[in-house]
Amino acid sequence: MSDHPIQLAVIVGSTRTGRFGPTVATWFAEHADRRDDVTVDVVDLAETPLPEQLSHHPGPEAARALAAVGPRLAAADAFVVVTPEYNHSYPASVKNAIDWHYTEWRAKPVGFVSYGGISGGLRAVEHLRHVFAELHAVTVRDTVSFHDARRRFDSAGQPTDPEMPVSAADQLLGQLVWWGRALRSARAEHPYTA
Ligand SMILES: Cc1cc2nc3c(=O)[nH]c(=O)nc-3n(C[C@H](O)[C@H](O)[C@H](O)COP(=O)(O)O)c2cc1C
Repeated sequence: MSDHPIQLAVIVGSTRTGRFGPTVATWFAEHADRRDDVTVDVVDLAETPLPEQLSHHPGPEAARALAAVGPRLAAADAFVVVTPEYNHSYPASVKNAIDWHYTEWRAKPVGFVSYGGISGGLRAVEHLRHVFAELHAVTVRDTVSFHDARRRFDSAGQPTDPEMPVSAADQLLGQLVWWGRALRSARAEHPYTA
């Protein structure tokens, strides 16, 4: 199993005006980036908005948006989706980004950092596990979650009580590195055929 760093795409799922997502995602991405075994690319769906109308023949605007996101997903060995919970599930922006792509997710591990009100986004995460199974991706067990998220971070964007989230993030990253390396080697040795 090759031990060079895995390329981790951290996907900022919320595109809502006034969103809290970047605070959570930046904290996680900076934490992940301190590791020697991970290289981080933050893919913010608000910066690269994909059209809502899916098409096999995207027009020039859609093609530009896809060109800004697709190759970065394709280059990733592993993903973390940073997702809030909206009405007991994940936002439409996350589903749209998933649906515009296909092989980019395949035979790769996906982890979740979730946040929200009382549930900490855990229902969004459980729904996403079903979706990623359809795409031949492997979701890892452990998650990082913040309930009542805005109250869990200080004005500098750091968790007010870091012990639990840091430990959860390390657990998640350890699992992603294991799966990321294992599946990268496996894909190189035997191209995955769905
Ligand atoms: C449309 C909408 C629906 C929401 N539904 C839930 C919910 O079902 N459960 C929950 O815990 N929080 C819910 N929330 C709270 C959000 O998870 C919380 O405000 C979070 O910060 C939103 O992420 P964002 O600011 O990055 O968009 C909802 C928020 C919105 C805007």
